[in-house]
Amino acid sequence: MSRDKSPRHSAAEQQSSDATEAQIAVHWPEEAYIPPPAPFIAHANLADPDVFERFSLDRFPECFKEFADVLDWYKYWETTFDASNPPFWRWFVGGRINACYNCVDRHLAAYRNKTAIHFVPESEDEAVQHVTYQELYVRVNEFAALLRDTFGLKAGDRVTLHLPMVAELPITMLACARLGVIHSQVFSGFSGVACADRILDSESRLLITMDAYWRGGKLIDHKEKADIAYTEAAGRGHTIENVLVWQRYPSRYSSPTALVEGRDVIVNDLLKTFRGKRVDPVQMPAEAPLFLMYTSGTTGRPKGCQHSTGGFLAYVAWTSKYIQDIHPEDVYWCMADIGWITGHSYIVYGPLALGASSVVYEGVPTWPDAGRPWRIAENLGVNIFHTSPTAIRALRRSGPDEPAKYNLRFKHMTTVGEPIEPEVWKWYLESVGKNKAVIVDTWWQTETGGFLCSTVPALHRMKPGSTGPGIPGIHPVIYDDNGNELERGCGKAGNICIRNPWPGAFQTIWKAPERYVKTYYARYCKDTKSKDWRDWPYMTGDGAVEAADGYFRILGRIDDVINVAGHRLGTKEIESAALLVPDVAEAAVVPVADEIKGKVPELYVSLKPGIEPAAEIAKRVSDQVVARIGAIARPHQVVIVPDMPKTRSGKIMRRVLAAISSHQDPGDVSTLANPEIVDTIKELNK
Ligand code: PRX
Repeated sequence: MSRDKSPRHSAAEQQSSDATEAQIAVHWPEEAYIPPPAPFIAHANLADPDVFERFSLDRFPECFKEFADVLDWYKYWETTFDASNPPFWRWFVGGRINACYNCVDRHLAAYRNKTAIHFVPESEDEAVQHVTYQELYVRVNEFAALLRDTFGLKAGDRVTLHLPMVAELPITMLACARLGVIHSQVFSGFSGVACADRILDSESRLLITMDAYWRGGKLIDHKEKADIAYTEAAGRGHTIENVLVWQRYPSRYSSPTALVEGRDVIVNDLLKTFRGKRVDPVQMPAEAPLFLMYTSGTTGRPKGCQHSTGGFLAYVAWTSKYIQDIHPEDVYWCMADIGWITGHSYIVYGPLALGASSVVYEGVPTWPDAGRPWRIAENLGVNIFHTSPTAIRALRRSGPDEPAKYNLRFKHMTTVGEPIEPEVWKWYLESVGKNKAVIVDTWWQTETGGFLCSTVPALHRMKPGSTGPGIPGIHPVIYDDNGNELERGCGKAGNICIRNPWPGAFQTIWKAPERYVKTYYARYCKDTKSKDWRDWPYMTGDGAVEAADGYFRILGRIDDVINVAGHRLGTKEIESAALLVPDVAEAAVVPVADEIKGKVPELYVSLKPGIEPAAEIAKRVSDQVVARIGAIARPHQVVIVPDMPKTRSGKIMRRVLAAISSHQDPGDVSTLANPEIVDTIKELNK
């Protein structure tokens, strides 16, 4: 694993002193522009430069009517935007809509026999499943009938999904949406305990899982995690009514973990009694929650971001059409996992709302070799491709010449989730895009529902390493730590916020409205009594710089969040897991640069008095983090230290540890309570 040993840069240093992530943030020189290819512009959904005028701030909020008009409504709304209870904004108030109807039923007339979902199993020996819109309609209806009639699910109930990347995942989400049931999908790589945390918080009635799935050539027993989740949640006071188990191979149970009589139900068996059943979509208020998506923040407890039905769907449909440039004839592949927001917005809801064909791939991108994604793309005729810098780095490293062997015809490619190095970006354009694709670097978050910054692909030139300006309707602003607005385009680093509300923004943190206000709106709010949205900028928690051309470059998180391979992990979550090992007295985690994953967590622990450091303890700590959170949180290294660097008030100085981990100068440490510890730790982590 190689480390980035380049020195820190001045722009990033202007972050606050606790901003560990920003301080070691990427920083590269401005790159030259690359124009979008002419054939792309000729067919783009959005090539009218008037769009920026249409979405100027003085057209707020009515401009967003255009977003909602991409959808079909049972009842058109009366109020586009209601700001009466800041910052709990309400969009399209009075409107009635069903997300499932918009993603499935409304396409039947024109696209009944078109593929909605191409499910690609990991094994190349197993046939790809092409689920047409008609088939999707049938399967979603039958499963919705099962949920309603056997389990009594109704609008507003919560259900936790812990499903891998299979067609049954979007089918389950859409069946919930048809009933107005709020789904909470937990990334399948998360542990059973992490799943239990989310079950408890959402007070879900059911857990819907799968017996097994393929990953890296292994058929993973997934059902065992459901048992852990059930037991853990029950032990902490919330008992799931039933565990519903989809079979990876219908009519065959593929898990070695036994079914629990009376509690576990094989979905595929029960579905037989619902053959041909239809369920009318429930006409939901636009502001009814569609789903919860948990994400990491500054405390150990994940936050349940609550997304709305009308606003969210309008936002992801519009951005899928105009930023992803999806046309109905396109084959679109977003290689993210549906367990993250990217998959919700840009594998399931956005593309399906447009009647596109969306690819769901079960396995590891580099399995069995780095040519796999390109074989899938070639075979299915994918022409819009969407992935993360981590995946691009991994594919570039393990198979730089692979794309050349395939007939790739991408017209449009997306990168999302973390900053992308210009040289990686260029490989993506030249080797994968064969210099014929347009690239958008989209910056956004779980909370924001959809893209915040990106170039508009036919209207802006690309600039490797930079995202772009705010998309139409999004007006970013950068503040310094004292709440002063930085001059536009000044190239100085600060905290990037969004001036105006937008329909895709989450509505609140589930059961934690105060935390919602405090985390996202309190810091730069100009007047907490104000009912004027202008006084309530949304704080993203990222550091950024804006260049003179209005393009933003994202430097990284300014809070206690580590972005590993484009996935958010809270430092507190990792540290609390480490503290579960009885020998550990203190734990501190810092991000270190990693060639493939962007950042990986490195964990420092000190032990209780009398306990001798041992490799076995480090291993136990690492295993505990994996058991508590999941394999993505596995520390790159666990360093056992005699003590942590601390301020006089006893606060652990993660900034100093981050510098040591990155082999950089920790700066002046003389004000620490124990400055001598710095050299000792440096020795331990050479
Ligand atoms: O730090 C930013 C980074 O990912 C964070 C959001 O993570 P999450 O909520 O998991 O959503 C990921 C998918 C949208 C942001 O606060 N991030 C996201 N996109 C980019 C990015 N950093 C740089 N460039 C991006 N394009």
